[in-house]
Amino acid sequence: MKKTLRDFDLGGKRVLIRVDFNVPLDKNLNITDDSRIRATLPTIRHALEKGARVILMSHLGRPDGKPVSSMSLSPAAKRLSELLGMEVIQCSDCVGPRVKEELRDLGGRSSVALLENLRFNPDEEKNTPSFAQELAENGDIYINDAFGSSHRAHASIEGVTRFLPSGAGFLLEKEIRYLGEAMQNPQKPFVAILGGSKVSDKIGVVENLIAKVDTIMIGGAMAYTFLKVRGVEIGNSKYEKDKIDLAKKILDKAAAARVEILLPVDHVCVQKVDENAVVKIEGPSISAGWFGVDIGPKTIELFTRQLDSAKTVVWNGPMGIFEMKPFSKGSYEIAEKLANLKGATTVVGGGDTAACVAGFGLGDKMSHISTGGGASLEYLEGKALPGIAALEDK
Ligand code: 3PG
Repeated sequence: MKKTLRDFDLGGKRVLIRVDFNVPLDKNLNITDDSRIRATLPTIRHALEKGARVILMSHLGRPDGKPVSSMSLSPAAKRLSELLGMEVIQCSDCVGPRVKEELRDLGGRSSVALLENLRFNPDEEKNTPSFAQELAENGDIYINDAFGSSHRAHASIEGVTRFLPSGAGFLLEKEIRYLGEAMQNPQKPFVAILGGSKVSDKIGVVENLIAKVDTIMIGGAMAYTFLKVRGVEIGNSKYEKDKIDLAKKILDKAAAARVEILLPVDHVCVQKVDENAVVKIEGPSISAGWFGVDIGPKTIELFTRQLDSAKTVVWNGPMGIFEMKPFSKGSYEIAEKLANLKGATTVVGGGDTAACVAGFGLGDKMSHISTGGGASLEYLEGKALPGIAALEDK
C-alpha cells in the first residue's frame, strides 16, 4: 500500500503535485477535452482545504526539451482557474530563480500555482537528478496524481521522490483501486473487450489477460489480423501481416487456457472511408474491394449477450471508426450495454475509448474511466509503473 494525500499533515505546507494536464488542444489552443484537469480537482481541493499551498507541475505534448509556445500550459492554467473559481499563478518555467520569485506570491494572491511545461527542459525526460532536486525545492511534500504519466520514469514522476516525502493523490489512488482490483481480484465472469487499430499495441495486454479472464472479445481493426489467422476472408480490411504468427500464438495460448476469444461474425463494410460512403453488412467473410469499419449487428448481439452475466469488464479500444457517425454503432452499443450492466464493475481504458464513451455521454455510467492511455495499457500488461513504484509505502 502506498501513502496517500491523507497520510500527510498538509497544513501550511507547500504540496508539489504532479498532474497530467497533457490535454488535447485545437489549432486555436482551446482545450477540447478537460477531463484530465477535472479529474485532479478532488486532490487540489483537499490540499487547499487542509491549508496547503499547491504547486502543480505537468508536461504537455512532446516539445523535445525546448520551449515551444504552442505547448505552453497557459490554456490549462486558465481552465483550472475557471474550474476552481480562483486565480492560478502561472509560472514562467518549472525551476530557477525566477520561478522561486513567482512562487513567493503563493499563500497571498492565490494558493495555487502551475509550473510551465516540464518537457521544455531536456532533463525532465532524462530524469537528471540535479533537475529532480531543483523541482523538489518547490515543495515540502510530493504527491503524484498523474496516473497518465506514471509509466514514464521522468524527473517529475520518479526522480523527485528521492528528495521529498511522497504519496499518491486521489486520482492515482482511484486508478490503482479500479485497475488493480480488476487485475488482481476480479469478480467473475471477467470479460475483456479489446479493439483499436493494432494487434501490436495490445499484445502484452492480451497475454497478461489470458491468465485472468473468462472471455476476450476483439473488435476494431485488430480483429482482422485474428480473423485472417482463422482463415476468414477479410477483403481489403487492414491487417498486420507481420503479426500473423503472434496472433496465432495468442489464439493457441487462449485455447490452452480455456479462455474464449470472440471475434466479429459480421462487419459494417465500405469501399472508402467516408461518412457518405455506400455501406453494406457482410460476414463472416468480406468481399474483395470492401473493408470493415465497424462490427455488424450480429456481432453486437453476440458481444452484448455475452456481457449479460459479466461481473467485471475491462474495455480498451473502440470497435470501429467511432469518430464517424455511420461507423460508431458498434462502439456505442458496447458502451450502452456497459452503462446498463447491473452489479458489475466496468473499467474503461483511457485514450480513444475514454473519448468515445465520453462522446456518447455515458462517461459517468461507468465504474471507472482511466485517465491513462499508455499508462493504463502498461498497467493491464501487468508491468510495474515507475511513478507508482517510487512512492513511499505506508
Ligand atoms: C499520455 O497522454 O498518455 C500521457 O500524458 C503521457 O504522454 P507521453 O506519451 O507523451 O509520455
